[in-house]
Amino acid sequence: MNRVLAHTGAKYPILQAPMGWIARRQLASAVSRAGGLGIIETSSGETEACQAEIEAMRALELPFGVNLPIRFLRDDALLRFVCASGVKFVTTSAGSPAKFIRPLKDAGIIVYHAVPTVESALKCVDAGIDGLVVEGAEGGGFKNPEEVSTLVLLQAIRAKVSVPLIAAGGICDGRGMAAAFALGAEAIQMGTRFVSSRESPVHENYKSAIVDAKETGTWVLNKRSTPCIRALKSERTRVIHEAGLMPADALRGIRDVYFAGDMEAAPALAGQTVGLIHEVKSAREIIEQTVAEFFEISGRLGALASERTFG
Ligand SMILES: Cc1cc2nc3c(=O)[nH]c(=O)nc-3n(C[C@H](O)[C@H](O)[C@H](O)COP(=O)(O)O)c2cc1C
Repeated sequence: MNRVLAHTGAKYPILQAPMGWIARRQLASAVSRAGGLGIIETSSGETEACQAEIEAMRALELPFGVNLPIRFLRDDALLRFVCASGVKFVTTSAGSPAKFIRPLKDAGIIVYHAVPTVESALKCVDAGIDGLVVEGAEGGGFKNPEEVSTLVLLQAIRAKVSVPLIAAGGICDGRGMAAAFALGAEAIQMGTRFVSSRESPVHENYKSAIVDAKETGTWVLNKRSTPCIRALKSERTRVIHEAGLMPADALRGIRDVYFAGDMEAAPALAGQTVGLIHEVKSAREIIEQTVAEFFEISGRLGALASERTFG
């Protein structure tokens, strides 16, 4: 049995990534209805709104998860809420999960932590984590400034730990999913692909900017400070890229990017898969096509293996 499916109750080992303000019930329920696992964000810091989103997802009786970005939580209100809410699956990120694991596990919750290095993966396993989200540098959003690709990071972590791995960063279809499984993952998580899905609440300008961008269409910004992010190339991000540093309030206008379509209001978070995404699709189309392509590719590779030929 695929351990991520056993842990999440989803039909397919495909997760929708947590994304501030975006990963709420509209997107998460579309993903979960299509057989994937929708994740509700809390990185927006809007405690009450996030609690309402979690309640609304619970009422739908679909499998889903919640993300707790440790460094961004103002207090332990959301942790306490999640522990008491009947949520079954949590991903933690941004910081050490050590203090979060015990209360979450005591509440009967399965906990995965997002890691960008082998060192952090080993610490999480020591702390008793159930699984890891392995986040490579190709992905959109908040990044480790020491960029390691998903290709290398997955192999390096798989070689050292035995807990289930969810691959994130640079994956948007069945080809990427097959590659991730070959490298040791049991599931994938997609952010950029789902932010550009039909059910994503973001403005059409954002979806079009993702569809129109090339594989070279993003920059990793603010590597010498925090947060280090990957975002679409734009006039605004060119200035930040050239300066090497991002003003502290650079992300203040992020909701104008997301929901008003003002692509210069703030860096528009996105990963390198912008170069692989050519149309807006429904969450169901994304998931079903990813699964079909995964089985087509893995079947082809299986045939090569059984005939001991390279084709
Ligand atoms: C638009 C966007 C917003 C994101 N916002 C967050 C966030 O608020 N918190 C977080 O931990 N990660 C955030 N991420 C990162 C995702 O959770 C995920 O790790 C990443 O998207 C995976 O790589 P991919 O974009 O190649 O699929 C964001 C990513 C995108 C594309």
